[in-house]
Amino acid sequence: MSHPAPPVAQRFRSFGKSIFAEMTAMATAHNAVNLSQGFPDFDGPDIARLAAIDAINKGHSQYAPMTGVPVLRQAIARAWARAGRPTIDPDAHITVTAGCSEAIGAALMGLLDPGDEVIIFEPYFDFYTAGAAMAGAVAKPVTLHSPDAAHPHDFWFDEAALRAAFTPRTRAIMVNTPHNPTGKVYSRAELELIAALCQQHNVTAISDEVYEQLTFNPAKPHISLATLPGMWERTITLSSLGKTFSLTGWKVGWSIAPPALTACVRAAHQFMVFSGSTPMQHGAAAVLDAGDAYCETLRRLFASNRDILSATLTRCGLTVYPSDSTYFLMADHSALGIGTDRAFCEHLTKVVGVAAIPPSVFYLTPGLGTNLVRFAFCKREETMREACRRLEAGLLKN
Ligand SMILES: Cc1ncc(COP(=O)(O)O)c(C=O)c1O
Repeated sequence: MSHPAPPVAQRFRSFGKSIFAEMTAMATAHNAVNLSQGFPDFDGPDIARLAAIDAINKGHSQYAPMTGVPVLRQAIARAWARAGRPTIDPDAHITVTAGCSEAIGAALMGLLDPGDEVIIFEPYFDFYTAGAAMAGAVAKPVTLHSPDAAHPHDFWFDEAALRAAFTPRTRAIMVNTPHNPTGKVYSRAELELIAALCQQHNVTAISDEVYEQLTFNPAKPHISLATLPGMWERTITLSSLGKTFSLTGWKVGWSIAPPALTACVRAAHQFMVFSGSTPMQHGAAAVLDAGDAYCETLRRLFASNRDILSATLTRCGLTVYPSDSTYFLMADHSALGIGTDRAFCEHLTKVVGVAAIPPSVFYLTPGLGTNLVRFAFCKREETMREACRRLEAGLLKN
């Protein structure tokens, strides 16, 4: 007797296949330069690789402690303090996760009950809404609007809209600074407003700071939300090795939070993966302590790539929005008249030979983002130059 295949559980049905997997597969199938998914096309620092190999050779092959190997938690605490933030306790405050992705899921599932509301700025990293759905929570969007005459440099949000998003059911707000996909660095004033509302409404902030090292504008430094007055006690800060050191495949991330919030993260983490890969955690510890020069080189490369790409896209007729951080930029493609963001990205990948991401999937509000396209510029200079050559050849003739 044959039975129908079971449907995907309802909580995931609206999400479909991840846009990153979809666009990377399309890029491969059409031999396009892949500026869609955010991963570098070069290796991380030697020190990381050698330390991980050494850990394997030394037999660090069994389960790591649930909270992460001590040398890594100590290195994370040192890196946190080196950036001028108050001292933290590796045992009480730090939990090592399987990339920041798992930390997002663990924070949301450890904190939220079904029916709770979580405020999410849109466009967002799509794990936030999926994580909220896994927790049975309700995602409430607040829109980051494209730069305009009144806000020429930054994606911005309306203060009244943020205030209105807080309700008696709000338990958490997701903040992502520096921000994927816009390259926005939240200003101190913006973070102070978020902090005041969190305190007024007794809401926990989950602050995803995976791009903390990738800022290009000295006038817009990264500020950790947890360092604002009154925020340490109500913030879970998330970060990761992948973006800072071009080691996205290592999947080493972490959360930093006071003991009560760390308990929430660990409650979920222990039953999601229990612990991350042991040798990679040893490699991560080595590079966190010694990788500052690598980061500096990376920032220079990415800032230059951003400028090359921005100039090309502008020549091709797109409106390019400023990106002060991360390794992404957003542009408005509507002047080219190729249709929605999906149609535009399909044309780019299949005809022009450059893959990018259609950002409408990063919005909850229907219709938003269809005029936009997201490009990743975390590639070797020659890769960026080849992408730009194809963009000019393929788009200028339109
Ligand atoms: C904002 C943001 N958070 C988290 C992640 C995932 O981090 P990881 O690769 O460490 O899981 C990404 C990856 O693209 C991201 O852009």
